[in-house]
Amino acid sequence: MDNALKYSTAGAVVTIGVETHLTPEAAAGPRRPDLVRLALLTPDMAQGLYTAISVGDEGPGMARENLPRLTERFYRVEGQKSGERSGTGLGLAIVKHIANRHRGGLSVESGEGRGTTFTAYFPQAVADAPAAVAKVS
Ligand SMILES: Nc1ncnc2c1ncn2[C@@H]1O[C@H](COP(=O)(O)OP(=O)(O)OP(=O)(O)O)[C@@H](O)[C@H]1O
Ligand SMILES: [Mg+2]
Repeated sequence: MDNALKYSTAGAVVTIGVETHLTPEAAAGPRRPDLVRLALLTPDMAQGLYTAISVGDEGPGMARENLPRLTERFYRVEGQKSGERSGTGLGLAIVKHIANRHRGGLSVESGEGRGTTFTAYFPQAVADAPAAVAKVS
């Protein structure tokens, strides 16, 4: 969300979506099929249902060649007008670590001049699992 606001021009729309009960394929799938999509993190055990949070913007977008490096620490896209915005290049590296700790995934869709959508998805607790009750006798 910080990136969407920071790299877009004033007045641009930022769209936040939350979807639940997704299959792993749907969670990792496209939100904006017209843009280039890249998986930045894929869960090891892609089974069960996922909740996905996506953040889409109408900002400058990025060229395909920049996408694989987005979660490297200190990586910032060069030659981007928005490069004037201050930042450390750590935000997306941290997002990836958090998603990984939750056994989730992360993907990006982007196109130069067309905006960017990041989607992070997380495994849902199994709704019909028996409640864990500890019995002490
Ligand atoms: N929504 C976006 N639109 C365009 N470029 C983006 C977007 N999100 C990230 N980028 C590019 O990816 C780079 C890495 O993003 P990241 O969030 O990791 O670092 P940062 O925003 O530069 O700094 P920090 O988040 O640590 O303050 C950014 O510097 C920018 O070049
Ligand atoms: Mg950032």
